[in-house]
Amino acid sequence: MKLLVTGGAGFIGSAVVRRAIAQGHAVVNLDALTYAACLDNVASVANNPDYVFERADIRDRAALDRIFAAHRPDAVMHLAAESHVDRSIDGPGDFIETNITGTFNMLEAARKYWTEADKPESFRFHHISTDEVFGSLGPTGQFTEGTPYDPRSPYSASKASSDHLVHAWAETYGLPVVLTNCSNNYGPYHFPEKLIPVVILNALHGRPIPIYGNGSNVRDWLYVEDHAEALLLVLSKGALGRSYNIGGENERSNLELVQTICAILDRLAPRSDSYADLITFVSDRPGHDARYAIDPTRIREELGWRPSVTVEEGLEKTVRWYLDNRPWWQALLDREGVGKRLGTG
Ligand SMILES: NC(=O)c1ccc[n+]([C@@H]2O[C@H](COP(=O)([O-])OP(=O)(O)OC[C@H]3O[C@@H](n4cnc5c(N)ncnc54)[C@H](O)[C@@H]3O)[C@@H](O)[C@H]2O)c1
Repeated sequence: MKLLVTGGAGFIGSAVVRRAIAQGHAVVNLDALTYAACLDNVASVANNPDYVFERADIRDRAALDRIFAAHRPDAVMHLAAESHVDRSIDGPGDFIETNITGTFNMLEAARKYWTEADKPESFRFHHISTDEVFGSLGPTGQFTEGTPYDPRSPYSASKASSDHLVHAWAETYGLPVVLTNCSNNYGPYHFPEKLIPVVILNALHGRPIPIYGNGSNVRDWLYVEDHAEALLLVLSKGALGRSYNIGGENERSNLELVQTICAILDRLAPRSDSYADLITFVSDRPGHDARYAIDPTRIREELGWRPSVTVEEGLEKTVRWYLDNRPWWQALLDREGVGKRLGTG
């Protein structure tokens, strides 16, 4: 299949691009190269004859029409988005424009292309979303595909809006869509302002490791390579119009997660004191959701997917990757504005 992947120079999109090429697909990687992008993430496939990069902004409808017409993809995997909750608190405008208007443009460009091609049944528009659209859980329960939407941050509200647009384009125009809502990802190539890389890199520099509030917020962590595998599976085998929740069944409080990373670093890069001594509690994020947990029964029972690693195994792979890839993260840390505390409201 020829896949048009948006956001393929980002964290998850680049994992999808690398895996899609490895599976024998052709890939057109469409990315605006915002602050969050890094073409090194796809350097391993950049010279593959089945790979093409198109620098374009999903807010630019004319550019999207040109790319659809030039490349004639069999399917779209739409990952391009503003993705950092803290940045959405400081500057929500970009999230509205890219995540909502940009998705609208993608849907309209895809609909035009699909309609002019006589509406092939095999075409798919796969929209990649987040579990944050479901809001916040108490100590028990899990998000299913039927959980009502209840987004609470500008980021999750913009993603929820984009999900509604995708469902509407399926119902109203018959566009063949699939959707996925995924829990927090981690792994190689994770941008250094997100929690897990911040922990690893602050620890390696001997700086305080910041934890928001009292560290009791719970997330369901998923290794990014497992997510990429699930996305390609949903694209090829998912039922039309259906959404699938993807989660690692790896719930951990932020404090437990950080302590696990410190213990791995104590083994792999020992120093005189434990890295856990660097843990520092800082003021909480405004509106910080207490707990997310995914019920992945649908994707497991319908498509046979399950994660390949536990969170401990995935974190060890991730820490090793950051220890082995200093030039990658050093270049990103040197970008302006990266590493400052964001989203304090
Ligand atoms: N990171 C997570 O834990 C997580 C979990 C669930 C869902 N998601 C979703 O997965 C997708 C990818 O997330 P990520 O963590 O890889 O994000 P990311 O921030 O690492 O990458 C986003 C990519 O999109 C590109 N982009 C941003 N605005 C664009 C625009 N206007 N036009 C074209 N390209 C643009 C950026 O340049 C970047 O390469 C997002 O849709 C996000 O909502 C992420």
